[in-house]
Amino acid sequence: MFEILHILQNRIDSIDAKEIVEFEVLNPDLLCSAYAGTSITVDSNEYIFRGYKAWVDLAQILQCKMLTPLVQSQNLVVIRFFKLNAEDSFHKSLDAEKYGSSSEFSEIHKNEEPAFLAHYIRALKNVTINKRLRVLNLGVNSGDEFEVIQKYASNFENMEFIGIDYCASAIEEAKNKFSANKNISFIVHNINDLKSLNLGTFDLIISIGTLQSSNLEFNPLFMNIVQNYLKKDGAMILGFPNCRWMDGEMIYGAKAKHYPFSEMSNLYKDAVFCKKYLQQKKFRVTLTGKEYIFLTATSIRKD
Ligand SMILES: C[S@@+](CC[C@H](N)C(=O)[O-])C[C@H]1O[C@@H](n2cnc3c(N)ncnc32)[C@H](O)[C@@H]1O
Repeated sequence: MFEILHILQNRIDSIDAKEIVEFEVLNPDLLCSAYAGTSITVDSNEYIFRGYKAWVDLAQILQCKMLTPLVQSQNLVVIRFFKLNAEDSFHKSLDAEKYGSSSEFSEIHKNEEPAFLAHYIRALKNVTINKRLRVLNLGVNSGDEFEVIQKYASNFENMEFIGIDYCASAIEEAKNKFSANKNISFIVHNINDLKSLNLGTFDLIISIGTLQSSNLEFNPLFMNIVQNYLKKDGAMILGFPNCRWMDGEMIYGAKAKHYPFSEMSNLYKDAVFCKKYLQQKKFRVTLTGKEYIFLTATSIRKD
């Protein structure tokens, strides 16, 4: 793999975005319970086995997308990597409607990515969503996170949901999506000024991919939310993105300023700050996930 990585990196650096690199490997289906690196002799030829997981991982690491392999013969398949266009990403957008209904961001469907959905559902389970009555979502955008709760929670109709976002077109979309649900309100508002909304307190506060935004001051905002909007026996789900969206793909690893590779200091710093703060306030806190790191907190107060 050391050599393959080096050769492919050079090859991919030399081609344009959207071009394809192909190479022949041992058919991964020949061995089902072997680890990558296992030597195998087939028809007197020696091969090193690697499963599809290794090839898909490699494609991502090289900022490519793996296309359907071609079956070359009984023992060999052609692996095909499509080079992603790194410029094709909403992260580059700077205007106010960066997250609006006509933005590149609006083309992302997180709930269709198992690496997001499975961990989010796990977080909903961890906070026993069915016993939560008032739910606040900060940075709700077009309401994707409520859609999953609607499918998952048995008590959905009896719950009250409030979603806040300062992007007017995203909130308009959310309102249309949930127009039949009188128990959900969406408000166009700046999270920096929650006080003027007189929201009261909540059994569950959700915020995914929002609190680390550059227009928000993470630590004071987070403490304000816990102190003033979370019930003492409430719960929290925070999602910290550890990925970039690029040319149709969710690519693992948070992109940090001043680094040409993914760097996670900010993610760890903020997640650990929240964890310690919530533990002091008598919450049990877990950190799970991969492309999105989910912090879930549930109260362990006895009183
Ligand atoms: C990366 S998006 C995440 C949206 C959604 N939670 C998701 O994960 O798909 C961040 C959202 O936070 C909103 N946002 C950022 N700063 C805000 C602020 N100060 N007040 C209200 N909304 C804000 C943006 O408009 C955007 O919808």
